[in-house]
Amino acid sequence: MEILVTGGAGFIGSHTLIALIHAGYTPIVIDNLCNANPIVLDRVAEITGVRPRLYEKDIRDRGALRTIFEEHTIEAVIHFAGLKAVGESTEIPLEYYQNNVTGTLVLCEEMRRAGVFRLVFSSSATVYGDPETVPIPETARTTATNPYGRSKLFIEEILRDLVASDDRWGVVLLRYFNPVGAHPSGRIGEDPKGIPNNLLPYITQVAVGKLKELAVFGDDYETADGTGVRDYIHILDLADGHVKALKRVDSDKGVFTYNLGTGTGYSVLEMVKAFEEASGARIPYRIAPRRPGDIAACFAHPERARKEMGWEAVRGLQEMMRDAWAWQSQNPDGYPESSD
Ligand code: NAD
Ligand code: UD1
Repeated sequence: MEILVTGGAGFIGSHTLIALIHAGYTPIVIDNLCNANPIVLDRVAEITGVRPRLYEKDIRDRGALRTIFEEHTIEAVIHFAGLKAVGESTEIPLEYYQNNVTGTLVLCEEMRRAGVFRLVFSSSATVYGDPETVPIPETARTTATNPYGRSKLFIEEILRDLVASDDRWGVVLLRYFNPVGAHPSGRIGEDPKGIPNNLLPYITQVAVGKLKELAVFGDDYETADGTGVRDYIHILDLADGHVKALKRVDSDKGVFTYNLGTGTGYSVLEMVKAFEEASGARIPYRIAPRRPGDIAACFAHPERARKEMGWEAVRGLQEMMRDAWAWQSQNPDGYPESSD
């Protein structure tokens, strides 16, 4: 069964390709490589024995989408493609809305034209803003504080309108918490451009000596040790969630919203300690001012995904750290620019 994976060469997409192949699907990738390296597909082939076909195209390119839908019998689409840097989104909001929102509109129009009505969309826990309570259920109030987050909220609303207007659609909105780690082989992983914004890639780059020390953004939050608490989820668990989501809309129509998180929050200092234990490396850190826009604690109520999709995260913090370290230590500079 062929599945179109937009943004399939990216961090979450590449791990999901492996989960799809293992589950017997044939993923077809469209990715404009604005934040990815095509070598990732060779690495996926090393791991699985299958090299997914890549269309190096933008999802806003209707002609490219039409060609793909003509050349393949696509049964469903998993839609990762988008821009994701919060800070950058406040500097170039038009590019974010153009890429994320327009990209999704074009994709859905071309899916409808091709008669493909099953879609799994990458949303984010960012749609909960500063939550009133934790753990956060899917029914919590949604809000957003930056253009990136708003693009996710707008797309969720657009997809709900679409499903309400046309009962052929089955759409799953997956709200990811904090994906971390890598494939245990260390062959694929997260390869951020420039200095990482996210905590774990920053820690692993300190560990390999690319960065001097970690700045811990605030130790005066109302949390056990004063540092920010998040729901870190192993990327392989997250990838498996997409296979479950596809099954969710095998026959059911409508729109389904799920948190993909573990339900457990860890603080920045707990993360540092766990990484040190798993890697044997030492992470020097200093306490720095709070990062603007940050919240104290954010973790999922993951029950709905378990009840309705039979999905739950099974990998713990030690595995997240071990696998993040396998990737970073084997690929200190990320993917090589040309051939391997
Ligand atoms: P990523 O940047 O590694 O992957 C996104 C991929 O999409 C990249 O390979 C990029 O080249 C491609 N892309 C971007 N715009 C495109 C376009 N117009 N046409 C074709 N390809 C395009 O990011 P990721 O971490 O794998 O995230 C995947 C999705 O999950 C994104 O939509 C992101 O917003 C969402 N998400 C990510 C996180 C996270 O922490 N990583 C959290 C919540 C939600
Ligand atoms: C970030 C994004 C959010 C996105 C999420 C998952 C921002 C403002 N928010 O949130 O939209 O959905 O990633 O990809 O970018 N920390 C440090 N030092 C660092 C980096 C992070 O102390 O160098 C702390 C943060 O203050 C936070 C925790 O580590 O408490 C996790 O940070 P991060 O990985 O950026 O994730 P989020 O804050 O959840």
